[in-house]
Amino acid sequence: MPGAEHITMCEVGTRDGFQIEPEFIPTDWKIEAVNRLSAVGIPRIEVTSFVHPRAVPQLRDAEEVMARIARRPGTVYAALVPNEKGAQRAVAAGVDKIHTVLSASESHNLANVNMTVADSLARLEAVAHVAHGAGIPLQGGISCAFGCPFEIDVPLPNLEAIVARLVRCGFQAIGLADTTGMANPAQVRRTLVYLIPKFPGIEWTLHTHNTRAMAIPNILAAVECGVRHFDSSIGGLGGCPFAPGATGNVCTEDLVHCLHAMGYETGIDLEALIAVSRRVQDMIGRELPGQIMKAGQWNRRYQVPHAVEERLAALAS
Ligand code: COA
Ligand code: ZN
Repeated sequence: MPGAEHITMCEVGTRDGFQIEPEFIPTDWKIEAVNRLSAVGIPRIEVTSFVHPRAVPQLRDAEEVMARIARRPGTVYAALVPNEKGAQRAVAAGVDKIHTVLSASESHNLANVNMTVADSLARLEAVAHVAHGAGIPLQGGISCAFGCPFEIDVPLPNLEAIVARLVRCGFQAIGLADTTGMANPAQVRRTLVYLIPKFPGIEWTLHTHNTRAMAIPNILAAVECGVRHFDSSIGGLGGCPFAPGATGNVCTEDLVHCLHAMGYETGIDLEALIAVSRRVQDMIGRELPGQIMKAGQWNRRYQVPHAVEERLAALAS
C-alpha cells in the first residue's frame, strides 16, 4: 500500500517460545525456523538467549544456532543476555544486536536472573561496555513492566527510574514487556504517555503476552501513542519459565494480519508467514494458539451454498 505507515516486527518465538517447550527442540529445527522467518521478510529476530544452560536448558545450543543460521542481508539477528558473560558469548557468536533482560519487580528479577534489580542494573552497565566495545547496538528489555505475578502493581516511578538508568548507560532502545499478560490498553496508554516524552530519541518496543486476551488491544493502544516496534511469536508460542501463569506471546501472523488489514505495512509476506507457522506447529507437535492459520485471512471467501446460489440467480433475473 503506497504511503502506508511502517511497523517493525521482531520475532521472538525462537527465544521466548522455544525456551519453555518441555521437549528440547533439535538445533536443526531451530535453525530452520530462523531461516524460514527471515525468508518471509521478518526484519528482526531474537534468535536465542545467552543465559545459563542450567537455567534454560532448551537454549543451551545458542552458539551453534547463531553459527549455522543463514544470515539474510538486512535482517537483524539479536539475542537476549542477562549479564556480561552472556554479552561476551553473544558478541563472540556474532549477534547484530544485544537485547538485555531485567525485571521491573524485585521478586520476578530474583526468580528470573537471581539478582536484585540494583545488581542487574550494575551488570547491565557492564553489558553496555561490552556492547559498545564491540560496536553492537543495545535494547534494554524490562520484564513485568505493567505488573508482576508476585507483587501485582509495578509503580510507574520505579519503571521510569529503570528506564532512566538504562538510557544513562547508553541504551538506545527500550522494550517494555508485559511478561504475564497483566496490562490493559488504558494502562498501556497511561504508561506510554508518561514515559515517552521523558526520554526523547529512544526507540520503544512493546513485548506482549496474550495470557488474558489483551495483547492486540494493548498493541493498538501503543500504536496510537506512536510506538512502531513490536515483539511477537510465530503461532503464539512463548512464556517465561520463571513467571507463573505466563503463556504465549502475541501471535506474529495474527498481529501482522491485523496490522495489514488496518492498512499498516510490515514488509512481511503474510501467506508465507502462515506457512512457517504451520511448520513450527508441526515441530512443536501440538496445536498453537494462532488464529489466522486456522481461520484464514479476513477476506477468505467461502463457496455460496447451492440453494442460496439459486435464490441469488432468481433475484438477478
Ligand atoms: N551464560 C553462561 N553461563 C553463565 C552466564 C551466562 N550468561 N552467566 C553466568 N554464568 C555462569 C558463571 O560463569 C558461573 O559459572 P561457574 O560456576 O562455572 O563459575 C555460574 O554461571 C554462576 O554465575 P553467577 O553470576 O553467580 O550466575 P547465577 O548462578 O546467579 O545465575 C543467571 C544468573 C542470570 C546466569 C541465571 O539466573 C540465568 O541464566 N537465568 C536465565 C534467565 C532467563 O533466561 N529467563 C527467561 C527469559 S526472560
Ligand atoms: Zn516474553
